[in-house]
Amino acid sequence: MEIIIQPTPPEGSIIAARIIAKLVRTKPDCVLGLATGSTPIPTYRELVRMHREEGLDFSKVTTFNLDEYVGLPPEHPQSYHAFMDEHFFAHVNVPRANIHIPDGMAADIPAECARYEAAIRAAGGIDLQILGIGTDGHIGFNEPTSSLASRTRIKTLTEQTRADNARFFEGDLSKVPFHCITMGVGTIMESRQVLMLAFGANKADAIAEAVEGPITSMNPATVLQMHPVAKCIIDEPAAGALKKTVYYRWVFDHKPDWQRW
Ligand code: GLP
Repeated sequence: MEIIIQPTPPEGSIIAARIIAKLVRTKPDCVLGLATGSTPIPTYRELVRMHREEGLDFSKVTTFNLDEYVGLPPEHPQSYHAFMDEHFFAHVNVPRANIHIPDGMAADIPAECARYEAAIRAAGGIDLQILGIGTDGHIGFNEPTSSLASRTRIKTLTEQTRADNARFFEGDLSKVPFHCITMGVGTIMESRQVLMLAFGANKADAIAEAVEGPITSMNPATVLQMHPVAKCIIDEPAAGALKKTVYYRWVFDHKPDWQRW
Protein backbone atom coordinates (compact mmCIF):
# COMPACT_ATOMS: atom_id res chain seq x y z
CA MET A 1 0.00 0.00 0.00
CA GLU A 2 1.26 3.50 -0.78
CA ILE A 3 0.92 5.74 2.27
CA ILE A 4 0.74 9.48 1.63
CA ILE A 5 0.88 11.60 4.78
CA GLN A 6 -0.14 15.23 4.41
CA PRO A 7 -0.21 17.94 7.09
CA THR A 8 -3.94 18.68 6.81
CA PRO A 9 -7.12 17.29 5.19
CA PRO A 10 -7.26 20.02 2.50
CA GLU A 11 -3.76 19.11 1.29
CA GLY A 12 -4.58 15.38 1.24
CA SER A 13 -7.86 16.07 -0.53
CA ILE A 14 -6.13 18.03 -3.30
CA ILE A 15 -3.85 15.06 -3.98
CA ALA A 16 -6.86 12.72 -3.99
CA ALA A 17 -8.71 14.98 -6.44
CA ARG A 18 -5.64 15.17 -8.71
CA ILE A 19 -5.33 11.38 -8.81
CA ILE A 20 -9.03 11.10 -9.74
CA ALA A 21 -8.77 13.95 -12.28
CA LYS A 22 -5.74 12.32 -13.92
CA LEU A 23 -7.79 9.16 -14.45
CA VAL A 24 -10.78 11.13 -15.82
CA ARG A 25 -8.49 12.93 -18.27
CA THR A 26 -6.65 9.83 -19.46
CA LYS A 27 -9.76 7.62 -19.54
CA PRO A 28 -12.78 9.92 -20.03
CA ASP A 29 -15.23 6.99 -19.88
CA CYS A 30 -13.80 5.63 -16.64
CA VAL A 31 -15.89 4.05 -13.90
CA LEU A 32 -15.51 5.71 -10.50
CA GLY A 33 -16.49 4.10 -7.21
CA LEU A 34 -17.67 6.82 -4.84
CA ALA A 35 -17.89 7.05 -1.06
CA THR A 36 -19.89 9.10 1.41
CA GLY A 37 -19.09 10.27 4.94
CA SER A 38 -17.45 13.55 5.89
CA THR A 39 -13.96 12.50 4.73
CA PRO A 40 -14.34 12.72 0.92
CA ILE A 41 -16.30 16.01 0.97
CA PRO A 42 -13.23 18.25 0.39
CA THR A 43 -12.12 15.93 -2.44
CA TYR A 44 -15.51 16.35 -4.13
CA ARG A 45 -15.27 20.12 -3.58
CA GLU A 46 -11.89 20.19 -5.35
CA LEU A 47 -13.23 18.06 -8.24
CA VAL A 48 -16.17 20.48 -8.58
CA ARG A 49 -13.69 23.37 -8.70
CA MET A 50 -11.66 21.57 -11.39
CA HIS A 51 -14.87 21.02 -13.37
CA ARG A 52 -15.84 24.70 -13.16
CA GLU A 53 -12.45 26.33 -13.54
CA GLU A 54 -10.42 23.82 -15.54
CA GLY A 55 -13.14 22.15 -17.60
CA LEU A 56 -12.68 18.70 -16.03
CA ASP A 57 -15.27 16.75 -17.99
CA PHE A 58 -17.36 14.01 -16.38
CA SER A 59 -19.75 13.62 -19.32
CA LYS A 60 -18.61 10.08 -20.12
CA VAL A 61 -17.91 8.97 -16.54
CA THR A 62 -19.97 6.26 -14.84
CA THR A 63 -20.22 6.09 -11.05
CA PHE A 64 -21.13 3.46 -8.47
CA ASN A 65 -21.57 4.37 -4.84
CA LEU A 66 -20.47 2.01 -2.13
CA ASP A 67 -23.61 1.89 -0.06
CA GLU A 68 -27.01 3.21 1.00
CA TYR A 69 -29.17 2.97 4.11
CA VAL A 70 -32.10 0.56 3.93
CA GLY A 71 -35.44 2.33 4.36
CA LEU A 72 -34.36 5.85 3.37
CA PRO A 73 -35.87 7.12 0.09
CA PRO A 74 -33.54 9.07 -2.24
CA GLU A 75 -35.14 12.38 -1.23
CA HIS A 76 -34.46 11.78 2.49
CA PRO A 77 -31.81 14.37 3.47
CA GLN A 78 -29.64 11.76 5.19
CA SER A 79 -29.80 9.24 2.34
CA TYR A 80 -26.57 8.73 0.44
CA HIS A 81 -28.48 9.65 -2.73
CA ALA A 82 -29.11 13.11 -1.26
CA PHE A 83 -25.55 13.34 0.07
CA MET A 84 -24.06 12.66 -3.36
CA ASP A 85 -26.35 15.19 -5.04
CA GLU A 86 -25.48 17.86 -2.50
CA HIS A 87 -21.72 17.37 -2.56
CA PHE A 88 -21.02 16.25 -6.11
CA PHE A 89 -23.63 15.36 -8.71
CA ALA A 90 -25.52 18.67 -8.62
CA HIS A 91 -22.28 20.50 -9.47
CA VAL A 92 -20.65 18.38 -12.18
CA ASN A 93 -21.77 16.86 -15.49
CA VAL A 94 -22.00 13.13 -14.76
CA PRO A 95 -25.08 12.09 -16.80
CA ARG A 96 -27.93 11.00 -14.52
CA ALA A 97 -28.17 7.68 -16.39
CA ASN A 98 -24.55 6.91 -15.47
CA ILE A 99 -25.07 7.35 -11.71
CA HIS A 100 -25.58 4.18 -9.68
CA ILE A 101 -26.41 4.04 -5.95
CA PRO A 102 -28.01 1.00 -4.26
CA ASP A 103 -31.78 1.36 -3.82
CA GLY A 104 -32.39 1.27 -0.08
CA MET A 105 -36.14 1.14 -0.70
CA ALA A 106 -36.05 -2.01 -2.86
CA ALA A 107 -38.80 -4.47 -1.92
CA ASP A 108 -36.53 -7.40 -2.78
CA ILE A 109 -33.14 -6.55 -1.28
CA PRO A 110 -31.21 -9.66 -2.46
CA ALA A 111 -32.47 -8.98 -6.01
CA GLU A 112 -31.35 -5.35 -5.74
CA CYS A 113 -27.89 -6.48 -4.56
CA ALA A 114 -27.59 -8.94 -7.47
CA ARG A 115 -28.72 -6.21 -9.90
CA TYR A 116 -26.08 -3.85 -8.51
CA GLU A 117 -23.29 -6.41 -8.92
CA ALA A 118 -24.46 -7.10 -12.49
CA ALA A 119 -24.49 -3.37 -13.29
CA ILE A 120 -20.87 -3.01 -12.08
CA ARG A 121 -19.87 -5.96 -14.27
CA ALA A 122 -21.79 -4.58 -17.28
CA ALA A 123 -19.95 -1.26 -16.90
CA GLY A 124 -16.64 -3.12 -17.18
CA GLY A 125 -15.76 -2.97 -13.47
CA ILE A 126 -14.63 -0.06 -11.33
CA ASP A 127 -11.43 1.72 -12.35
CA LEU A 128 -10.90 3.64 -9.13
CA GLN A 129 -12.72 3.19 -5.83
CA ILE A 130 -12.67 6.00 -3.27
CA LEU A 131 -12.92 4.76 0.31
CA GLY A 132 -13.23 6.28 3.74
CA ILE A 133 -12.71 4.12 6.81
CA GLY A 134 -14.86 3.70 9.89
CA THR A 135 -13.34 3.96 13.36
CA ASP A 136 -13.77 0.17 13.53
CA GLY A 137 -12.02 -0.36 10.19
CA HIS A 138 -15.16 -0.72 8.08
CA ILE A 139 -14.96 0.10 4.37
CA GLY A 140 -18.24 0.81 2.63
CA PHE A 141 -20.44 -0.55 5.40
CA ASN A 142 -18.52 -3.81 5.74
CA GLU A 143 -18.39 -4.05 9.48
CA PRO A 144 -15.81 -6.13 11.41
CA THR A 145 -16.12 -9.89 10.69
CA SER A 146 -17.51 -9.18 7.22
CA SER A 147 -16.37 -11.90 4.84
CA LEU A 148 -13.32 -10.66 2.99
CA ALA A 149 -14.86 -12.30 -0.11
CA SER A 150 -18.29 -10.73 0.35
CA ARG A 151 -20.38 -9.23 -2.46
CA THR A 152 -23.05 -6.51 -2.40
CA ARG A 153 -25.55 -7.43 0.31
CA ILE A 154 -27.51 -6.22 3.31
CA LYS A 155 -25.52 -5.55 6.48
CA THR A 156 -26.53 -4.68 10.02
CA LEU A 157 -24.65 -1.64 11.34
CA THR A 158 -22.75 -1.92 14.60
CA GLU A 159 -23.80 0.24 17.52
CA GLN A 160 -20.48 2.10 17.16
CA THR A 161 -21.13 2.95 13.50
CA ARG A 162 -24.70 4.05 14.28
CA ALA A 163 -23.34 6.28 17.07
CA ASP A 164 -20.56 7.64 14.79
CA ASN A 165 -23.10 8.49 12.10
CA ALA A 166 -25.76 9.93 14.43
CA ARG A 167 -24.15 13.35 13.83
CA PHE A 168 -25.66 13.29 10.34
CA PHE A 169 -29.11 12.63 11.88
CA GLU A 170 -29.26 15.71 14.10
CA GLY A 171 -27.37 13.70 16.73
CA ASP A 172 -30.43 11.51 17.23
CA LEU A 173 -29.32 7.86 17.41
CA SER A 174 -32.91 6.66 17.14
CA LYS A 175 -33.09 8.09 13.60
CA VAL A 176 -30.07 6.11 12.31
CA PRO A 177 -31.15 3.05 10.32
CA PHE A 178 -30.01 -0.39 11.47
CA HIS A 179 -29.47 -1.79 7.99
CA CYS A 180 -27.74 -0.86 4.78
CA ILE A 181 -26.89 -2.24 1.37
CA THR A 182 -23.15 -2.19 0.77
CA MET A 183 -20.74 -3.38 -1.87
CA GLY A 184 -18.89 -6.34 -0.42
CA VAL A 185 -15.22 -6.46 0.46
CA GLY A 186 -14.72 -8.77 -2.55
CA THR A 187 -16.53 -6.26 -4.77
CA ILE A 188 -14.27 -3.45 -3.55
CA MET A 189 -11.16 -5.58 -4.03
CA GLU A 190 -12.01 -6.07 -7.73
CA SER A 191 -11.69 -2.36 -8.50
CA ARG A 192 -8.50 -1.67 -10.44
CA GLN A 193 -7.31 1.03 -8.07
CA VAL A 194 -8.28 1.91 -4.50
CA LEU A 195 -7.88 5.30 -2.86
CA MET A 196 -8.54 5.28 0.88
CA LEU A 197 -8.79 8.60 2.73
CA ALA A 198 -8.66 9.12 6.49
CA PHE A 199 -8.38 12.32 8.47
CA GLY A 200 -8.32 12.90 12.22
CA ALA A 201 -6.97 11.22 15.35
CA ASN A 202 -10.12 9.11 15.75
CA LYS A 203 -9.01 7.15 12.65
CA ALA A 204 -5.41 6.56 13.83
CA ASP A 205 -5.93 3.08 15.31
CA ALA A 206 -8.04 1.83 12.40
CA ILE A 207 -5.40 3.12 9.94
CA ALA A 208 -2.48 1.60 11.86
CA GLU A 209 -4.22 -1.79 11.79
CA ALA A 210 -5.21 -1.43 8.14
CA VAL A 211 -1.71 -0.53 6.97
CA GLU A 212 0.59 -2.39 9.35
CA GLY A 213 -1.53 -4.97 11.15
CA PRO A 214 -2.28 -8.55 10.20
CA ILE A 215 -5.02 -9.09 7.61
CA THR A 216 -8.20 -9.86 9.48
CA SER A 217 -11.93 -9.49 8.99
CA MET A 218 -11.91 -7.82 12.43
CA ASN A 219 -10.70 -4.75 10.50
CA PRO A 220 -11.95 -5.20 6.92
CA ALA A 221 -9.69 -2.40 5.62
CA THR A 222 -6.66 -4.64 6.35
CA VAL A 223 -7.54 -6.64 3.22
CA LEU A 224 -6.38 -3.68 1.13
CA GLN A 225 -2.85 -4.98 1.82
CA MET A 226 -3.74 -7.61 -0.80
CA HIS A 227 -4.77 -5.02 -3.39
CA PRO A 228 -2.13 -4.41 -6.09
CA VAL A 229 -2.84 -0.67 -6.50
CA ALA A 230 -3.96 0.78 -3.17
CA LYS A 231 -3.15 4.29 -2.02
CA CYS A 232 -3.93 5.63 1.42
CA ILE A 233 -3.99 9.40 1.94
CA ILE A 234 -4.02 10.50 5.57
CA ASP A 235 -3.34 13.59 7.63
CA GLU A 236 -0.84 13.78 10.50
CA PRO A 237 -3.35 12.91 13.27
CA ALA A 238 -4.61 9.85 11.34
CA ALA A 239 -0.97 8.78 10.90
CA GLY A 240 -0.42 9.04 14.67
CA ALA A 241 -0.30 5.29 15.44
CA LEU A 242 1.74 4.15 12.40
CA LYS A 243 5.23 2.76 13.00
CA LYS A 244 6.92 3.28 9.63
CA THR A 245 6.09 6.93 8.95
CA VAL A 246 9.77 7.76 8.27
CA TYR A 247 9.74 5.27 5.41
CA TYR A 248 6.38 6.48 4.02
CA ARG A 249 7.67 10.06 3.91
CA TRP A 250 10.94 8.87 2.33
CA VAL A 251 9.00 7.09 -0.42
CA PHE A 252 6.86 10.21 -1.01
CA ASP A 253 9.90 12.51 -1.17
CA HIS A 254 11.67 10.23 -3.68
CA LYS A 255 8.69 9.52 -5.90
CA PRO A 256 9.70 9.52 -9.57
CA ASP A 257 8.14 12.42 -11.47
CA TRP A 258 6.28 10.12 -13.86
CA GLN A 259 4.43 8.62 -10.88
CA ARG A 260 3.15 11.98 -9.67
CA TRP A 261 -0.30 13.35 -10.30
C1 GLP B 1 -19.90 5.62 6.79
C2 GLP B 1 -19.71 5.22 5.34
C3 GLP B 1 -18.29 4.86 5.03
C4 GLP B 1 -17.36 5.93 5.58
C5 GLP B 1 -17.51 6.02 7.07
C6 GLP B 1 -16.59 7.06 7.71
O1 GLP B 1 -20.10 4.58 7.64
N1 GLP B 1 -20.56 4.13 4.95
O2 GLP B 1 -18.12 4.72 3.63
O3 GLP B 1 -16.04 5.64 5.24
O4 GLP B 1 -18.84 6.38 7.35
O5 GLP B 1 -17.23 8.28 7.73
P1 GLP B 1 -16.52 9.67 7.98
O6 GLP B 1 -15.74 9.93 6.72
O7 GLP B 1 -17.62 10.66 8.16
O8 GLP B 1 -15.65 9.51 9.15
